Amino acid sequence: MGNSFATTSYIAAIALFILSLSGLSQHRTSRRGNLFGMIGMLLALIATAVLIPSNGIAPLIAAIVPGAVIGSVLASRVAMTSMPELVAMLHSFVGAAAVLVGISNYLGGSHGLTGGDLTIHELEIYIGVFIGAITFTGSIVAFGKLNGKISGKPLLLPARHVLNLLMVLAVIVLGVVFMSSAEGAGMTPLLIMTAIAFVIGIHLVMAIGGADMPVVVSMLNSYSGWAAAAAGFMLENDLLIVTGALVGSSGAILSFIMCRAMNRSFISVILGGFGTAEGVAPGAGGEPQGEVTPIDIDGTAELLSDAKSVIIVPGYGVAVAQAQHSLAEMVKLLRDAGVAVRFGIHPVAGRLPGHMNVLLAEANVPYDIVFEMDEINHDFPATDVAMVIGANDIVNPAALEDPTSPIAGMPVLEVWKAKTAVVMKRSMASGYAGIDNPLFYKENTRMLFGDAKKNVDALVAKLRELVTA
Ligand code: TAP
Repeated sequence: MGNSFATTSYIAAIALFILSLSGLSQHRTSRRGNLFGMIGMLLALIATAVLIPSNGIAPLIAAIVPGAVIGSVLASRVAMTSMPELVAMLHSFVGAAAVLVGISNYLGGSHGLTGGDLTIHELEIYIGVFIGAITFTGSIVAFGKLNGKISGKPLLLPARHVLNLLMVLAVIVLGVVFMSSAEGAGMTPLLIMTAIAFVIGIHLVMAIGGADMPVVVSMLNSYSGWAAAAAGFMLENDLLIVTGALVGSSGAILSFIMCRAMNRSFISVILGGFGTAEGVAPGAGGEPQGEVTPIDIDGTAELLSDAKSVIIVPGYGVAVAQAQHSLAEMVKLLRDAGVAVRFGIHPVAGRLPGHMNVLLAEANVPYDIVFEMDEINHDFPATDVAMVIGANDIVNPAALEDPTSPIAGMPVLEVWKAKTAVVMKRSMASGYAGIDNPLFYKENTRMLFGDAKKNVDALVAKLRELVTA
């Protein structure tokens, strides 16, 4: 009875996870997608509890209750801007879990397996622990880089590729020793390999520059899925295998899409330091290099109300300032006054995939005026005002004009092609990639300095005066 209930629940949970992924692919259906995922996870937990022998229930509760309390407190407190750090930290837990499951599985013996079955079982353990260990330390470094505790600049050791190669070779040799050890005698090579994989995880992510971090976060997401799938094989749990494969493959697809959006090759990103000369960290160009033309609230409000067409490009600063609701109000005022307003969204704007879409949806900005970069980039020459709010790297012309720039080749929103570009930010500080932005010094660029929320609120007040006058 227990078994058939668990099997049915597992199948239902798998279907719900697939529906969840398809729901999450669009804003309109994303809430529903989340709900499917939550119900699927609840079903999976209940079914797993049913399968556990009665003496396992107490330890299960002792693990789940504090985990659920800590998880819900953390998730409810986390600011949207810190979400990528939380996600990176959660990936590290999956990695650690795969390492622990692998080692305890090995300690638990071969369960009477022989021949090919035993070989497969040991391979599952070895590969699962390897992926888990890389995911664990790699995610902790990503967490540190994302919250600024570790510098975003790539650590480029002189012979880093040789070092990586040597470590991978050592892992293969240790794997051969592990597989040929007598039953239970392979613990030493397994633990040495785990230590080496910890170092590989740290070294891989330390070598990746700030501008490439989005790809790393989704790549670690993918690794955490494969680590979970490997744990599923070790535990002979079909649901864990399918769920891990879903996370692993969707993370890999997302990494690929992001690489394409940033014009990066996936291999260059994971080997680190892409777009940077060997041993030279980017960031030297962070200081302002020219004269800028400032503009005030009144001037900006006039530009906007006189315009026929406006494209707004939001970035990380909108999330920091929580300016999305004021921005929605400003857009409504302008649209009511007959100005054609649209949003242009860069695929890596903000600090996590879809960050800007989530903010705009939260402020009830209509979906049909929100466009992806590729859909809107060719419209800038026919646009009166391009308004950049709290964005920097994603509108940096150096990506197209300077082959030595760390973001060279990354497609950007070409706001400088509009009649006037207004850039709203607090200072001349650089963005996430730590490089100067020639956009600020262009003849048709105006700098509106100040906090995005305060400025947009002031613009709303001024525009109200202008449109009701
Ligand atoms: P950034 O290049 O980081 O620029 C954001 C700008 O917002 C900063 O220059 C900052 O200038 C300004 N700002 C911050 N707080 C503000 C406030 N309260 N009011 C007004 N302005 C404020 O962001 P972006 O243009 O959105 O580009 C995203 C960057 O993050 C890319 O380099 C991307 O690779 C990286 N990244 C993205 C992701 C994902 S998945 N999206 C994940 C990790 C990293 P001031 O300090 O002068 O105000």
